[in-house]
Amino acid sequence: MPTIHDVAKQAGVAPITVSRVINNSGYVSLKTRERVETAIAALQYVPNSLARSLRSKQTKTIALVLTDITNPFFTTMARGVEDIANKQGFNVIFCNTDESETKQNNYLTVLLQKQVDGILLVPARSHAEPIKLIQSQGVEVVILDRKVPDVQVDVVRCNSEKGAQQLIQYLIGLGHQRIAILTGPEGVSTAVDRVTGYRQALVEAGLEVNDAFICHGEFTQASGYEMARQVLSIVPQPTAIFAGNNFIALGALRALRDANLRVPEDMALVTFDDLPLTLVVDPFLTVVAQPSYEMGQQATELLLARLKGETFREHQELILSTKIIVRRSSGLPLDGRQE
Ligand code: RIB
Repeated sequence: MPTIHDVAKQAGVAPITVSRVINNSGYVSLKTRERVETAIAALQYVPNSLARSLRSKQTKTIALVLTDITNPFFTTMARGVEDIANKQGFNVIFCNTDESETKQNNYLTVLLQKQVDGILLVPARSHAEPIKLIQSQGVEVVILDRKVPDVQVDVVRCNSEKGAQQLIQYLIGLGHQRIAILTGPEGVSTAVDRVTGYRQALVEAGLEVNDAFICHGEFTQASGYEMARQVLSIVPQPTAIFAGNNFIALGALRALRDANLRVPEDMALVTFDDLPLTLVVDPFLTVVAQPSYEMGQQATELLLARLKGETFREHQELILSTKIIVRRSSGLPLDGRQE
């Protein structure tokens, strides 16, 4: 039975282009569309709706595609996935995309060729097409951690907007008015939502939003270092930094140290995502903690329920609660600081 990959090869395009033609979504030139349609006809390719019914037995294998295998946020999520999957007799393939959509789509092509039964995806970018490609192959998919517009799919995530808003409200309550935010790429929903929550908190408190204090980089230590140096060059400097994730916070800490700035005496520092107590003996950072283990568990339960035909209800979005953990890095109220 020809697959979407056979059609893509015959037409000389990527599988995602075939998916666009099948779903009539995204831009495809007339010339390319004709080549794809010719290949579909020549191979007598069977589109999505029948592909599912013609699929043979399950492989009892699912995949987790995440964006940074070195980050404890994701390894903890992976543990939650594996614990549920193994308990129900499924194996798990783990793929790391390094926040690259190209790497992600390459992995998705391989996973579809290996006939995995389902995919748990932390999307590298908020684009619907990779999800539609998976669905066009009759493979179940659940999105974790992030949002993707214009696609009908189960999602399990946290409310980044609300978590960021609460953390900034906390800093404002300590007396901070010049707060910088260092976050991930503008194409990633969690990075964007954290800026939205940051802005909302400042506006609600009647404080100015200084766009120079808003930095989009990568969810990495190196980027955190550079973004921190960028905001430290602004006069007057911020009195507090909000890092969009734990690795950005670690990079910012190094930049503050190199600038001879003490945390929290000279600069308050807070962040999204805790570092697991198994790695950090004396936790220091004030954080918005996300339940990534539970996120992995609940997404896997959703996926396996669909694979077992236990549920065909409309797709759902599960939003898990975050919690603020106050530690030393946010210091005392500004008026109580030791100069
Ligand atoms: O570490 C990567 C960050 O982006 C995490 O905060 C997670 O929410 C992801 O979206």
